[in-house]
Amino acid sequence: MKILVTGGAGFIGSHVVDAYCAAHHEVVVVDNLSTGKQEFVNEQAQFIKADITDQEQIQQIVREERPQLINHHAAHIQVGNSVKDPQYDATNNILGLLHIMETAKEVGVEKIIMASTGGAMYGNKQTPFTEEMKEEPLSPYGVSKRAGELYLNYYHEQYDLPYIVLRYANVYGPRQNPHGESGVIAIFSEMIAANKQPIINGDGTHTRDYVYIDDVVKANVSALDSNFVGALNIGTGNEISTNDVFHKVVAQFEKNIPEQHGPERPGEQVTSSLSYDKAQQVLGWKPTVQFDEGVRRVVEWYQSNQNP
Ligand SMILES: NC(=O)c1ccc[n+]([C@@H]2O[C@H](COP(=O)([O-])OP(=O)(O)OC[C@H]3O[C@@H](n4cnc5c(N)ncnc54)[C@H](O)[C@@H]3O)[C@@H](O)[C@H]2O)c1
Repeated sequence: MKILVTGGAGFIGSHVVDAYCAAHHEVVVVDNLSTGKQEFVNEQAQFIKADITDQEQIQQIVREERPQLINHHAAHIQVGNSVKDPQYDATNNILGLLHIMETAKEVGVEKIIMASTGGAMYGNKQTPFTEEMKEEPLSPYGVSKRAGELYLNYYHEQYDLPYIVLRYANVYGPRQNPHGESGVIAIFSEMIAANKQPIINGDGTHTRDYVYIDDVVKANVSALDSNFVGALNIGTGNEISTNDVFHKVVAQFEKNIPEQHGPERPGEQVTSSLSYDKAQQVLGWKPTVQFDEGVRRVVEWYQSNQNP
């Protein structure tokens, strides 16, 4: 199958591209390299440097390439930055998607898979979050992802274009950008590898659901063949505190580093975890990589890549 992967030079997208190439799909990657790296793009994939907010450029690419499926991972992903600059977030996450969708319907794309958020979608509710819960995003980033989901539903209703939305928990693994505001495992690992003291925001008791990249890739592979249309949570249902993450990472480095805390980030959710029951029913998907094993793999990667 010919698949166009937007954001395919980024952390998650590049791993998805690897799996699609390994399964002998013809893959075209579109990425503006704002956070992604060209060296992450699989050699078997065709790489086009382009920005999805450039309507003319992205629409020309979709028209020329005529993919059967689009896997959409390109996005602005920083929650805090989306609060400071909601227009920038919406330009990338809403208008960028619309540029793609308007041409997708025209050239007869058969399906869209889109990366969305589970952590920033449901607001402050009893965990684990299920897809039946009302979506109440509390940040412009969550709002733009929800808007993207609603637009996909509109294109499905109006133009019969099927879609699967994968609402990820906190994804972690090799190649994650350690210079952003999220990706605490990457941030801690990079600092410890560089002999620097990581700072835990607040008292470190906030919890998150951490899902390993290989499991996320499997969901993107299963989604290719599924007839399901709608949104699926991709998480583990487990909650791990930031303090626990810190100690696991430190232990993997076999170092003795004390906790050091900084100010709480305003607006942070206290808890978050995703039920994966629906993904299991629909895709036969379930998380397989235990947290300790995932952290071990990330730390090993940082130890062998001094300047990731
Ligand atoms: N990492 C997580 O925990 C997580 C959780 C929930 C959802 N997601 C979603 O998964 C997707 C990938 O996230 P990631 O963690 O791999 O981040 P990432 O920053 O590594 O990947 C995003 C990629 O998109 C590219 N990109 C950004 N804006 C673009 C634009 N305007 N035009 C073309 N390319 C552009 C970047 O260069 C990068 O390669 C995003 O849609 C994100 O919202 C990630």
